[in-house]
Amino acid sequence: MTRRRCPRPSQETERPAVEGRAKPFYTFVFPPPQRGGIPLSRSTVLIVDDEELYRNALERILTRVGHDVVTASNGMEALSLLASERVDLVLADVQMPGIDGLELVRQVRANDPDMPCIVITGHGGAEQSVEALGAGAFWYLEKPFEQSHLAVVRKLVDQAIEMGRLKSENRILHSQISHRYQFENIIGNSTALNRVLDVVSKVADSDSTVLITGESGTGKELVARALHYNSRRAERMFVTVNCGAIPENLLESELFGHVKGAFTNAVGHREGRFAAADNGTIFLDEIGDMSPNLQVKLLRVLQDKTFEPVGSSKSVTVNVRVIAATNQNLEEAIQDKRFREDLFYRLNVIPIEVPPLRERREDIPLLAEHFLEVAGQECGARVDSLSRDALRSLTEYTWPGNIRELENLIERLVILSSDGEIGLEDLPPSVRSPKSAPSQPTMPELPPEGISLKDVVDGFESRVITQALEKTQWNKNRAAKLLGVNRTTLVEKIKKKGLDADRP
Ligand SMILES: Nc1ncnc2c1ncn2[C@@H]1O[C@H](COP(=O)(O)OP(=O)(O)OP(=O)(O)O)[C@@H](O)[C@H]1O
Ligand SMILES: [Mg+2]
Repeated sequence: MTRRRCPRPSQETERPAVEGRAKPFYTFVFPPPQRGGIPLSRSTVLIVDDEELYRNALERILTRVGHDVVTASNGMEALSLLASERVDLVLADVQMPGIDGLELVRQVRANDPDMPCIVITGHGGAEQSVEALGAGAFWYLEKPFEQSHLAVVRKLVDQAIEMGRLKSENRILHSQISHRYQFENIIGNSTALNRVLDVVSKVADSDSTVLITGESGTGKELVARALHYNSRRAERMFVTVNCGAIPENLLESELFGHVKGAFTNAVGHREGRFAAADNGTIFLDEIGDMSPNLQVKLLRVLQDKTFEPVGSSKSVTVNVRVIAATNQNLEEAIQDKRFREDLFYRLNVIPIEVPPLRERREDIPLLAEHFLEVAGQECGARVDSLSRDALRSLTEYTWPGNIRELENLIERLVILSSDGEIGLEDLPPSVRSPKSAPSQPTMPELPPEGISLKDVVDGFESRVITQALEKTQWNKNRAAKLLGVNRTTLVEKIKKKGLDADRP
C-alpha cells in the first residue's frame, strides 16, 4: 500500500510550454472542489488496480487536483485498507485476480452503504457497466483514459465524493432528529402524559389517521413527530403544513402542487407537500382553519389517496400518513358549519388529546430542569438550579401558554441570570404571585319594593359575556374559555340576548 499526499498548494495552474522542455502529458486549470463557495476538506481516494501503470497514472491525476490517494493492487488489500484508513471514494478496476472490482464494490457497500465507488471497466464493456451500477457503483469509467477524458474523470470523482459526504451527513442528521423524538426525550412522568405516550407507541406503526387536540403549546407537534419517528416511515419525510398560516388561495397549491400556467404566477410546475410526503407522513397543523373547499379535496385524499394538482386533470396517487392537529373544538366547528362532519370522522380515527400543563403539574420540575440544561448549553451560560421557592411558584402557576411558555421563560431567565441559581425574585410577578381569586361582583342593593331576579341575572350575564367578547376581540373560542362554557352555549346566549348587535 502506498499513500501519497497531493502537492500543496492544491491549485495547479497551466504551465507555459518552455522551450527545450517536454510539454507535460496533461495540464489542469481549475479551482479546488467547492461546495456552496466553501472549499471541501481534503478527501482520500482509494485506487485499486492490479496494473501498476494505470494505478500510477490515476494517482498522478488525482493528487494533482487536491486529493490524497492510497493504493491497493488487489481486492483483499483494498478491504483490509478500508478497515484501517478513512477513505472517501473507492476507484476500482473490474478485472483483477481474486476479488474482482464488482465483487469488491458489493462488499464495500455491504459494509458501508454510504461509500461511493467508481468502477473502471474495459473498453466498450456495456454489460460490465450495467453490472457495475447494479453492484452499487456510483458510475463507471472506461479504460484507457484519453487526455480529453481527464476533466470528466475529475468531475466524476468530485461528484462521487460529494454525494458520499451528503449521504453520510444526511444519515447523521436523520439519526439525530429521530433520536430527539424518541420517547425518552419527551420529558414528563405524569399519568396524563404517560397515557398519551402509551397511545403514541401503540399506533405509531399503523397508517391510521390521527387527530391531535390540545391547547396551544402543549406539545401537539412533538407528539406528531414522535408518531412519525417511531414508525416504519421514519426514514422518509415528515412534512409539516400550517393550514392557519398560509392564505387560502395559496394553500391548495402548497398542498397539492400546480402545473405551469395554472394561475397567473404559476410559471412552472411545482410539486406539492402531499407529493413530497409520499411514503412518509404529512402533519396538517391548525386543521380547523382549513377552508370548506379544501376540506372537500382533503377528504378525497383520505378516502382514495388521490388528488389533482391545481390546473391539472391528471390524478396523482400517494401513500401518505396523515396526522392533523388543532387547538379548536372541531365538534363545535361542525355545529357552526365551519368544519365538515365527514372529514372530522375521517381524521378522528385515532384521537389523541394532549393535556394542558396545569393538569400535569408533576411534570413541571422535570421540564424546568430539562429546559434549564438545554438553555444553559445553547447560551453557554451556567445556571445549575432553581431555588425551592422559585420551583414552588413555577409548579403553582397556571401556564396558559403551556410548555412553550415554560420553555421560553426558562430560556429568558438563563440569559438574564447573573449567578448560578434562579431565585423567586427572578420570576416575573405574574408567575411569582398565585392568581388572585376572581373579584366578587358588586351586589345591587335590594330595594324595599323588590326586584326581578331574572332581570338582574340576565343583565349581569349580558355584561360579563360582553366583557369576555371585548377582551378577546370577539374570538368566541377564547371568550368561551374565559367564561368556562363551551362555544355552542356562548353562541346561543349571544344570539338570544342579541349581543351581536353591539359588535363594533
Ligand atoms: N413533554 C415535552 N418534553 C420536552 N419538550 C416539550 C414537551 N412538550 C412540549 N415540548 C416543547 O414545547 C414546545 C411547544 O411544543 P409544540 O410546538 O409541540 O406545541 P403545540 O401544541 O404544537 O403548540 P401550538 O398549538 O402553539 O402549535 C416545543 O419546543 C416542544 O419541543
Ligand atoms: Mg404546533
